[in-house]
Amino acid sequence: MTILSQLQQALKPILEPYLEQAAQLGVKVPHTWVSEAADKRFGDYQCNIAMILAKPLKQSPRDLGGAIMNELNATGIESLAELSLAGPGFINFTITAQAWEQQLQAVTTDEHLGVEQAAQPKTIVVDFSAPNVAKPMHVGHIRSTIIGESLSRIASYLGHNVIKDNHIGDWGTQFGMILYAWKHDLDEAALEQDSIKELLRIYQKYSLLCKEDAEILAACKEELVKLQQGDAENLEIWKRCLELSKQGLNQIYDRLDVSFDYWLGESFYNDELSATVQLLVDKGLARESQGAIAVFSSEDKKNEQDCFKIHKDGEWRDNPMLIQKSDGGYNYATTDLATLFYREAQWSPDEIWYVVDSRQSLHFKQLFEIAQRLDFKPKLKHIAFGTILGQDKKPFKTRSGETPQLASVLDESIERAAQVIADKNPDLQGVEKDQVSQMVGIGAVKFTELSQHRLTDYIFSWEKMLALQGDTAPYLQYSLVRIQSIFRKLEGEYEVKGVAIKLNEAAEIRLGSTLCQFAERLPQVLDDHRPNLLALYLLDLAKAFHSFFEACPVLKSQGETQASRLALCALTQKVLNQGLSLLSIEAPERM
Ligand code: ARG
Repeated sequence: MTILSQLQQALKPILEPYLEQAAQLGVKVPHTWVSEAADKRFGDYQCNIAMILAKPLKQSPRDLGGAIMNELNATGIESLAELSLAGPGFINFTITAQAWEQQLQAVTTDEHLGVEQAAQPKTIVVDFSAPNVAKPMHVGHIRSTIIGESLSRIASYLGHNVIKDNHIGDWGTQFGMILYAWKHDLDEAALEQDSIKELLRIYQKYSLLCKEDAEILAACKEELVKLQQGDAENLEIWKRCLELSKQGLNQIYDRLDVSFDYWLGESFYNDELSATVQLLVDKGLARESQGAIAVFSSEDKKNEQDCFKIHKDGEWRDNPMLIQKSDGGYNYATTDLATLFYREAQWSPDEIWYVVDSRQSLHFKQLFEIAQRLDFKPKLKHIAFGTILGQDKKPFKTRSGETPQLASVLDESIERAAQVIADKNPDLQGVEKDQVSQMVGIGAVKFTELSQHRLTDYIFSWEKMLALQGDTAPYLQYSLVRIQSIFRKLEGEYEVKGVAIKLNEAAEIRLGSTLCQFAERLPQVLDDHRPNLLALYLLDLAKAFHSFFEACPVLKSQGETQASRLALCALTQKVLNQGLSLLSIEAPERM
């Protein structure tokens, strides 16, 4: 059990009568009473329950806090923590070195490093990455891919059953242009050479042409209709295009070490779409409107809170979700509804997570509300994220003004990493240098993404993300390299088993306590789907390690002190490695 849980448990019997009283008065009482202290100078954890309960219980918060603290002190908590009352009634807990030492013993011998496994494992479908076939997969998609992969890994590590599904856009209107171009303007040799590039070329050229030339636009639309009606030639081309695109995508996923259990793209649901629309009509959820079919407001909310209403030209109007166009075609929403039904029938998930750009938030609000009206069981969550900006604070673009391609971002990052490494360690050469550059370059891109709050727009900066000193992947990777080198310098084999960790120096306590908190911080990532909490934790850990390494000699110490410090190094190595792997970042042996 983590230290945090031990404190929660110690407080429980004491708080129960107070919480009951408050609940009877209709006060919403919290379920967690202790949190890590914001300012570690006054303690490791704090409890502010007295501030919440004092008013309804008609006491002064300071008196209530004092009373709770006295009761706690009477339970013999002093071997775990020293208590103090602060400010208007905070209880501060300073954990004893001995309690940290005991905890470290448990963490060292636990295969999950002290992380408790979910008591009730959930089945979670994670819908992420989902690029559109034959359209560019750009840096915007990187956020979904990297955040989705990391959240999936973390959920699995916490004991959940995760199903990763790549819901690619493989049936969009882009195929009209692709088909037309394929028949009139395809460079077969280029397609052989680099299929993604050639598909992109025709897509870009023809989306421009379609804007300028009504005849071409009409011809492209015709090709699309033929495809949708099952024309054999067009289906053949579409399949080939899909195959090539998947190969290209897989190359990128391999580089990123990202994988999926399923690739059930939009086209997979084609045969279900008419039944989906029918079902919604039958249930009275959807109705005809100007030749199309749409879902409207249920008229039981305030306009401001109704995602099926929009304020326009000074009044509130309907903002329905279209599920069938007037020409009989189906919408993005129809596919997403069919996908919901399929996932429910196939996997009975407890939750479905959509890791998708925040610009689609209205789509998901409407989708989720429809699911609710249908009494759909799984909990649905839109895990949204913001935009990546360039130095000019506008959406990140290449010098020539295009949206940068993911592959070229990775290439450039690796190239720049190679330069940083050459400056740092000129001895590193050949294959090893290449491998290290890959790990550092790709790790830097991923960490930049994962260390941001997912909802904030962030500015992309090569210098910042590749800095060896800073809140970066290379800094964490370098910390691991430093630990490796300690063990390399050590004479003889090193065996951690049976070593008692002793925390005497302040820097040892800081490192030891941070190590114990991996198990406390990791589950918090899933509270609001924020991998940046893990990224920040790893930075805290690396900083604690560097302070320890400066203040406490390891190789120059002896006997039990050395054994204990080496055990701290070994555990730091384990936790850093595990944490980075949950962020899908690799770490080199040397750099
Ligand atoms: N292909 C879509 C896009 O690039 C994202 C799909 C997300 N998943 C979903 N079930 N809608 O915008």
